[in-house]
Amino acid sequence: MKFYRCTECDQIHIKLIDQNNDMTCCNAPTEELVENNFPDEARNHVPKIRKIGNFVTITIDNNHPMVDIHHIEFICMETNKGFKYKKLNINQEPKVQFILANDEEITNVYLYCNLHSLWSLH
Ligand SMILES: [Fe+2]
Repeated sequence: MKFYRCTECDQIHIKLIDQNNDMTCCNAPTEELVENNFPDEARNHVPKIRKIGNFVTITIDNNHPMVDIHHIEFICMETNKGFKYKKLNINQEPKVQFILANDEEITNVYLYCNLHSLWSLH
């Protein structure tokens, strides 16, 4: 799964069907986001997965801030069947819950911080 950001308006994009064509926004090419790109901040952006049966709770270690100037914008769980996405709000605990189908397995988890960009498990 790849995420792209417009260098003009900071809008984040994903491709649901990837035809290997460049994606543009604001008449400019978007940049593919590189995950885990701030090594000094790594321990503050680790998604923590708790799975009980089909019920998944994802939190962020070390109480990541959720204030206007620094917050997690969304958490996205990728599975062998697709992905599930939840937006987070300012002052909300950085915690989301998802339900997996019986034949669905988590393949990765992504989170996006407004200051420290995209993070994933691997
Ligand atoms: Fe952050």
